[in-house]
Amino acid sequence: MTLPTVTTIAETRSAVAAVRGAGRSVALVPTMGALHDGHLALVARAREAADAVVTSVFVNPLQFGPAEDFDRYPRTLEADTAALERAGVDLLFAPSVADMYPEGRTRITVAAGPVGDLLEGRVRPGHFDGMLTVVAKLLHIVGPDVVLFGQKDAQQVFLVRRMVADLNVPVRVEVVPTVREPDGLARSSRNRYLSAEDRRRALALPSALAAAAAATDAGPERMLAAARAELEGREGVEPDYLVAVDPATFRPVDDRYRGPALVLVAARVGGTRLIDNELVSLG
Ligand code: PAF
Repeated sequence: MTLPTVTTIAETRSAVAAVRGAGRSVALVPTMGALHDGHLALVARAREAADAVVTSVFVNPLQFGPAEDFDRYPRTLEADTAALERAGVDLLFAPSVADMYPEGRTRITVAAGPVGDLLEGRVRPGHFDGMLTVVAKLLHIVGPDVVLFGQKDAQQVFLVRRMVADLNVPVRVEVVPTVREPDGLARSSRNRYLSAEDRRRALALPSALAAAAAATDAGPERMLAAARAELEGREGVEPDYLVAVDPATFRPVDDRYRGPALVLVAARVGGTRLIDNELVSLG
């Protein structure tokens, strides 16, 4: 069967209403396309979590800064559609920018607040406001029971959960573990920008996280020093941040902190910005 694909908000709402009318629950997997196994893991989990799965493919201009890769972000709708069909998705929502932002951009946006200015938000001002705004729109358009995100974008997950809680959005947020290549590199749509050499260099990120996970007994500072040693001085790798944050607040932990911590790393490899993270337990 060909995957039903809709582009307008009205068509999406009536397709979802038909699903609901048949008494079936709905999961939403929001994506920007250029799908890889990480997205397909979200779809697989979504199929377990609800009766019908809606996937959106929309490269959201609001979450890209003027100097970022919006124009060259990979757009592979044909291949994405085939992959989603094989994965058992029930409906693909693939709107145009004009469908989503008929007046160019929304005049009202969701403000991510202070956590939106940290880490990714410091390097990408406005990114999280733009991301939350489109996620809020997608939730209002589809009205799913459950929405699924990947753990690789840990700050995004934190902020979506906070938006859903603070604004009483009636949806359950599920987070699916990061899918990795056999050598440990986290799957990302941006990996396709990497040359073979940069692809090899990018392994510095999972190596840093593995070093952190192996050094949790030493306390936060020494754990981060062990991780930093894997990252710094590597040819072609420009580290951006390497921090441990409290998963409950997303604030960096101090050296006395004990308990669960998210180790977050970002680095530029051959011009491509990559992020990764690992949940550890500081004991
Ligand atoms: O993670 C992404 O691909 C995007 O940030 C999302 C959630 C689809 C919003 O544009």
